[in-house]
Amino acid sequence: MNPAPIKDVLNKLTIEDLDLKDKRVFIRVDFNVPLDENLNITDDRRIRATLPTINYAIDEGAKVILASHLGRPKGKPDPRFSLAPVAKRLKRLLNKDVIFVSDCVGPQVKNIVEKMKSGDVVLLENLRFHEGETKNDEEFAKQLASLADYYVNDAFGTAHRSHASIVGIPKFLPAAAGFLLKKEIEYLKGVVNNPIRPFVAILGGAKVSGKIGVLENLESNVDKVLIGGGMAFTFIKAMGYEVGNSLVEPDMLDTAERIRKKLKEKGVKFYLPVDCVIAQSLEPGAVVKIVPTLEIPPGWQGVDIGPATARLFAEALQDAKTILWNGPMGVFEIDAFSRGTFAVARAVADAYALTIVGGGDTDLAVHRAGVSDSISFISTGGGATLQLLEGKELPGIAALTDKKPD
Ligand code: 3PG
Repeated sequence: MNPAPIKDVLNKLTIEDLDLKDKRVFIRVDFNVPLDENLNITDDRRIRATLPTINYAIDEGAKVILASHLGRPKGKPDPRFSLAPVAKRLKRLLNKDVIFVSDCVGPQVKNIVEKMKSGDVVLLENLRFHEGETKNDEEFAKQLASLADYYVNDAFGTAHRSHASIVGIPKFLPAAAGFLLKKEIEYLKGVVNNPIRPFVAILGGAKVSGKIGVLENLESNVDKVLIGGGMAFTFIKAMGYEVGNSLVEPDMLDTAERIRKKLKEKGVKFYLPVDCVIAQSLEPGAVVKIVPTLEIPPGWQGVDIGPATARLFAEALQDAKTILWNGPMGVFEIDAFSRGTFAVARAVADAYALTIVGGGDTDLAVHRAGVSDSISFISTGGGATLQLLEGKELPGIAALTDKKPD
């Protein structure tokens, strides 16, 4: 469904506020993409997601300097984390030359940047090959800033990190948001904090502890909460039922019960799985059974929501106008345990609602279910998405230059 226009909730400069013609623009992107053992990119969605910003800067006649991290190298060069494969992919996606530089600071980089013409694109080597990046070293940030006239952040996935290229450079240059960053904030903050009701949140994933902050932040806006995945069993156990060998966080039992009661007091409808797929091990060939959630035998563990729950959740989504989904319903990476997650993916995609999918695993699930084109917005973040959904301010957003009132 096409989303309605969203109010500007960013209040920061955006790339459209900058006069880019013939200017050097340093664009911090999040090209932290998965690579296989032969260093082939296995998923380039994060690269594609930044193309609107990069193409806009090229079209405006800027000299485009791209910088990113990849993986977690230990502050020194490591060929396993080189951005060289990304440069190759980017070249193909942009259909133009991308000059790859084997460092991100130093005389060689300066020299190449000085020779750039308007419309040229340079990709610098992994920022985390210097320890100054994660340490937010001011001198390192200054060196990066000296390459450009403007700074643009389009690295939403890294906006929760107080690193030099995220919060350091904006101290030295006018700093604006790219299109991806802006869109992420509009959906994850604008829509989630001010949803068209009924607003339904579907939360899954292994652990309750990872989602408590989100539940607390949503409690005043949300009409229904549907819980699936491993985290459901901590809620069920906290209500006094046996869950066999299912994943339970013992130290979260009281918190889970407190949150469930609080949501109930607020009139939020709280749905837990009524049935589940169980197995004795997580081996792909393991024997599986479908049982009511309150009848999991000892020695068995819940690995997916069952078919009755998938139908129940789809029905609960019928009247939704806004849906947020974060976290899979089971161990969907294993085919035999993926049906519940895929059924929810289809139900979300079919809903007559504005639909937002939180990043990471859930993003992968909607792609595997083949319904990603029917989702209004899929976040590119992992940790950054969660922090925003918890209502926290992201350092990378706070660091950008404030927009002056018209
Ligand atoms: C991510 O993949 O979540 C971002 O690229 C941030 O990476 P990091 O967790 O290594 O900082």
